[in-house]
Amino acid sequence: MVTEFVPVQELSKSLKAVPKNYIAPEDKVPVVTREPGKSVPVVDLCDFNLSPEQHERVVREIASASSEWGFFQVINHGIDVTKPQKVSREFFELPKEEKLKYAAKEYGFKSDGYGSKISNAADAVQLWRDYFFLCTSPKRNLDSWPAQPLQYKEVMSGLSDDFLMLTRKILGFLSEGVGLPTDYFEKCFGVPNQSILTNYYPGCPEPDKVLGIEPHSDFGGLTLLLQDGVPGLQVLQNNTWVVVEPIPGAITINISDLLELMSNGRYQSVIHRVKVNASRPRMSIASNYSCLFDSTVAPAPELIDEDHPQLYKPVKFGDYVQEVVKKGPTGKAYMFINHDSKPEYMLLPKH
Ligand code: OGA
Ligand code: NI
Repeated sequence: MVTEFVPVQELSKSLKAVPKNYIAPEDKVPVVTREPGKSVPVVDLCDFNLSPEQHERVVREIASASSEWGFFQVINHGIDVTKPQKVSREFFELPKEEKLKYAAKEYGFKSDGYGSKISNAADAVQLWRDYFFLCTSPKRNLDSWPAQPLQYKEVMSGLSDDFLMLTRKILGFLSEGVGLPTDYFEKCFGVPNQSILTNYYPGCPEPDKVLGIEPHSDFGGLTLLLQDGVPGLQVLQNNTWVVVEPIPGAITINISDLLELMSNGRYQSVIHRVKVNASRPRMSIASNYSCLFDSTVAPAPELIDEDHPQLYKPVKFGDYVQEVVKKGPTGKAYMFINHDSKPEYMLLPKH
């Protein structure tokens, strides 16, 4: 049970220095902001009016981005991203008392609600981030969603529907990208387990000392993310943090752990983190798509052969989530057959 909770947004209003328990371990990995050839690939979906040649291009671009970066951005995807950003921002701008009516009942994204800490461990480094978490599929409990702003429930339900549709299409491209039938990965997931997490990163008096989110890979299947205009998301590539430039209207997509497993490592679930800045608050809306907690996923047998030995074992999603919640990002080792053969990209940067 969550007993007390001080939103970072409230802390940030009065503090001139960061409290000790928010100070993140030092990180020596260099950061690249803009360098030609060093940015997350952008894929034009042409509002899905794709000629056979364009379809082939999209499959090729998405597959190569997903194996080399684990991340890509899509433009001309046909989804209205401004309304969800508007209602979510309006929620975070409400008075503290109004927001706290929705305080999450449990730590660790288990139930709908407003929160900041995801663990009550005494020694855990706190993140410079508040959030609102929504379970959106298979069930939505609209009674626990914000009543203000008035359009919140309708707009966020609409975003969930739009994201489910886009996810299905992206999974189709990803299936074709490794030579499998279009509906292959969608069928592997079965009933969609989808959530929407709105992250709110207040401005910080000492931004270099904290993290919005610590280095991690996403433990679900596929993540769709709306960034606002403020940069902050960074992806690990060749032991360098590369900034994911916000592109107005674009959706950032990243392969998450279950898809890496199902694809037997053809697609990578890559480590990323979030930095915050001094004056401007940043908001992002992240939606994860996975299978139900009692479902088990396994590497596609079609993707296992002499040249591609099986790297992962079948995993029950609920067990996997528990492992990652308990151990943090290194919990990912659980899904490898040989725990010692963890690929280099999943090792966290050395502090
Ligand atoms: C996440 C995440 C990135 C961002 O919620 O898992 O990585 O830009 N978010 O907020
Ligand atoms: Ni993430």
